[in-house]
Amino acid sequence: MLELYLDSADIKQVARFQACLPIKGITTNPSILAKAGIGVNQLLAELNPLLEEKARFHVQVVSQSLDEIIAEARQITALPYDVVVKIPATEVGIAAIKQLHSEGIPLLATAIYSVQQGFLAALAGADYLAPYVNRIDNFGGNGVEVVAGLQQLLTQQNLACCVLPASFKNTRQVLDVLATGVGAITLPVEIMEQMFIHPAVPLAVEQFNKDWQRVFSHKLAFET
Ligand code: G3P
Repeated sequence: MLELYLDSADIKQVARFQACLPIKGITTNPSILAKAGIGVNQLLAELNPLLEEKARFHVQVVSQSLDEIIAEARQITALPYDVVVKIPATEVGIAAIKQLHSEGIPLLATAIYSVQQGFLAALAGADYLAPYVNRIDNFGGNGVEVVAGLQQLLTQQNLACCVLPASFKNTRQVLDVLATGVGAITLPVEIMEQMFIHPAVPLAVEQFNKDWQRVFSHKLAFET
């Protein structure tokens, strides 16, 4: 089953969508946490009981050098939760992924803007790849094509790595990415919200209510 994540550190919003959807967990990055003004320890402690059993949290390292990234990743993975360590897929980041993969640490290669970059991270041992769909579009590229190309290459090369696209600004991007067969996706709150919305739906529901009340007044369905 597709792993559905919220790309958010907003606890109220996570609770809101967890109530109606099988949210696997959350993805965060330093910008998301800084914007929410909440640290990793507080966030995970509050979300873990809120989310269903086996909630997964993707937490990004903030260290820059190879040794520091490796040391930080080891600390993150020691947290008492199901945590995947996010590492930007730079040359240094991919070197860290190679080392940390050999230690059995679950890893997500993030900030992926091209098929080749994602492919290298997968070869190095990343468990997840996060291509930035909208940001690729913003650079004049095609985020959906990058996701599709990556997905195809992983299948052809028999690499057991899950594509977890991130960075969306509209639901069209989401649907096109899902059609490529990705195993996971992370959506910002605004886009998750938009997935529910269609202007015709409230009108349809209102018409059902009017038609029913005209004939059956306030009786419930099972009472008629
Ligand atoms: O984790 C990466 C993702 O949050 C990027 O999204 O909306 O900042 O492009 P965005």
